[in-house]
Amino acid sequence: MSQPVPEQVGLLEGLRSTPSRRYLSDTPIPDDLLWELLDTAIRGPSGGNRQRWAWLVVTDPSVKTRIADWYRQGWDAAYGVRREELSDPGRSGVDTGLTPSSYRATEYLAQHLGEAPVFVVPVLRDAADSTDKRLGSSIYGAVQQLLLAARAHGIGGVLTSLYLGAEDRVDALLGLPDDAATMGLVPLGYPARGRWSQPRRRPVEEVVHWERWGETRTRD
Ligand SMILES: Cc1cc2nc3c(=O)[nH]c(=O)nc-3n(C[C@H](O)[C@H](O)[C@H](O)COP(=O)(O)O)c2cc1C
Repeated sequence: MSQPVPEQVGLLEGLRSTPSRRYLSDTPIPDDLLWELLDTAIRGPSGGNRQRWAWLVVTDPSVKTRIADWYRQGWDAAYGVRREELSDPGRSGVDTGLTPSSYRATEYLAQHLGEAPVFVVPVLRDAADSTDKRLGSSIYGAVQQLLLAARAHGIGGVLTSLYLGAEDRVDALLGLPDDAATMGLVPLGYPARGRWSQPRRRPVEEVVHWERWGETRTRD
């Protein structure tokens, strides 16, 4: 199947219209495009520009399937067991942040993760035993760049963590060095359903404090 031709999207528009995409087709992503996405991701920031990162690209179906099984177990334990409550259309989703429709999308991903053509696993070195609260700041900016670069090519994805219940097994399967830690797992693929739309967030006036904690303002 040929890859969809991406629409041109401006930077600010892209920043405001890149939600999680969890309904991903199994259409392959060409290697040259993956290189471009990753080369864009690594333009992101890290403390002192140390770049203690590595980016694992997983396309092997047998590896993806094993990780997807562990991911699904993580999903089941955290959310699957609450299916009736969390997927109730009458719920607002304020407590967990998951609306009924995002619950369905998240459940779909848990059941189909292995079908995404590519997993990108961002890894930090010297991180396995870290107690640094800000450790992630040296990679998550770059992870977001990966997702935004993907969006520019019509490719969707989402940063995930539910594989972490099997972290040791994932580390072993991927052959990670002892000092390294996976910082997430990003399935990438051409979206099979849904659209690029502005993510729903609490209003900016509610979360911005001016000069001092508690000093909020209304936006004219
Ligand atoms: C630290 C972190 C962990 C996450 N883990 C998962 C996950 O395991 N599975 C998943 O489907 N989404 C995961 N997400 C995605 C969030 O659910 C998503 O960013 C949030 O719901 C907002 O989605 P939106 O941008 O589409 O509105 C994670 C996001 C972050 C930042």
